[in-house]
Amino acid sequence: MKVLVVGGGGREHALAAALHRSGAELYSAMRNNNPGIAKLAREVRLVKETDVTAIVEFAKAAAVEIAVMGPEAPLEAGLVDALEAKGIGCVGPTKAAARLETSKSFARELMQRNGVPGNLRFASFDDLKEAKRYVRDAGFELAIKPVGLTGGKGVKVQGEHLNTVQEADEYLEEIFSHGIGGGSVILEERAVGEEFTLQVFCDGRNVVPMPLVQDHKRAYEGDVGPNTGGMGAYSAEDHLLPFVTEPDRQAALDIIRRTVAAMAKEGHPYRGVLYGQFMLTRDGPRVIEFNARFGDPEAMNVLSILESPFLDVCQGIVDGSLSTNVSFARKATVCKYVVPAGYGTAPQAGKLIEVDEAAVANEGAAAYYAMVSEEGGKVFTTTSRAVGVVGIDDSIQQAEEACERALRHVRGEAIFVRHDIGKADLVNRRVEHMARIRKA
Ligand code: AMP
Ligand code: GLY
Repeated sequence: MKVLVVGGGGREHALAAALHRSGAELYSAMRNNNPGIAKLAREVRLVKETDVTAIVEFAKAAAVEIAVMGPEAPLEAGLVDALEAKGIGCVGPTKAAARLETSKSFARELMQRNGVPGNLRFASFDDLKEAKRYVRDAGFELAIKPVGLTGGKGVKVQGEHLNTVQEADEYLEEIFSHGIGGGSVILEERAVGEEFTLQVFCDGRNVVPMPLVQDHKRAYEGDVGPNTGGMGAYSAEDHLLPFVTEPDRQAALDIIRRTVAAMAKEGHPYRGVLYGQFMLTRDGPRVIEFNARFGDPEAMNVLSILESPFLDVCQGIVDGSLSTNVSFARKATVCKYVVPAGYGTAPQAGKLIEVDEAAVANEGAAAYYAMVSEEGGKVFTTTSRAVGVVGIDDSIQQAEEACERALRHVRGEAIFVRHDIGKADLVNRRVEHMARIRKA
């Protein structure tokens, strides 16, 4: 079957690899020439991922039957609506259903209207003065978020990034004066705890969970520095996390199931991958945000251990016949992103990077190319993340060791890795933090 993959990052290389393994004939629409995807694809079209007209034309010409969406931008641009209008089934939601990610106030209001548990107190504003007044009157600490898409970098939290009311005011002024994320703002209660991610497959009605994952957003070791798209992530062999119990997981899954049911009830059935970012608090999981797609790097963790043919899963999503029988190996994974030096502040683009893929595989790991570009048989960094390396083994510790061995086979002039991800020190800190929160 001919399948189009939209996007050219590490997540999309993992999607392409899983589709290729299950026998799909691949077509790729991406901005950068990702060498990993290019090697697997029958045909590549270098195109902006929001160029709906060009991608629909490419998909029609190639006669693809299914299109799998990587990033969120094409969802918001209406690519799924346009492809479906031409009879091409999509793994990814329509523009209306993608509002779960593209409008943070839509997501919270949907939960509120439908009595979905796990919501946080919130208020949305398109007036600067009223937003400032809420900051003074709320009586609890807040997270300040532009309502629309900001590439994962628009959130500031009181007590973390913002220490005074004046700093909160200044950030609100910046959002309104620069029109960040559409120029309106959602203020929500700050949730305190440990974060985890639950991704599910969804065909509009049926929901099938994937293993839990924990991402690391901060740029530098020890969880300091600017927020990024994600520096790396791990998952455990029991598909929980060391600080998440099975009842916690069930509570998060219930929130997702009810959200999906609410979308169907309101006439926007959700098809694709739904990503729930949760804060595990003293009182159970709370929704931090939804994403209308796989996480990047989280896709690399879970797709590396997917045992069921991914093409069958995609077909089930498109046909509305998703089987609950999707299996993942009982293995732990640790993914670390190799990024250009300076990533997060002043990344050094255009530097040579070399991956010995056979040697990586020999170490019990997989390497996925991200936003690099191939020119004349050589691979160069851009300003974005370069290569995701995933170690796979029986425990987090062993998977971390496999990842580190494999990283030795990635060489570059100016690269950086957060080596602490998946190491016992950092994982234990999270477990202890959660234990303190449960006790408090
Ligand atoms: P988001 O882009 O919504 O995922 O937010 C980025 C990061 O900000 C999250 O991963 C959290 O660490 C933090 N954050 C967002 N919303 C909240 C909240 N309501 N309470 C505490 N932290 C939050
Ligand atoms: N790693 C977080 C995300 O993909 O949104």
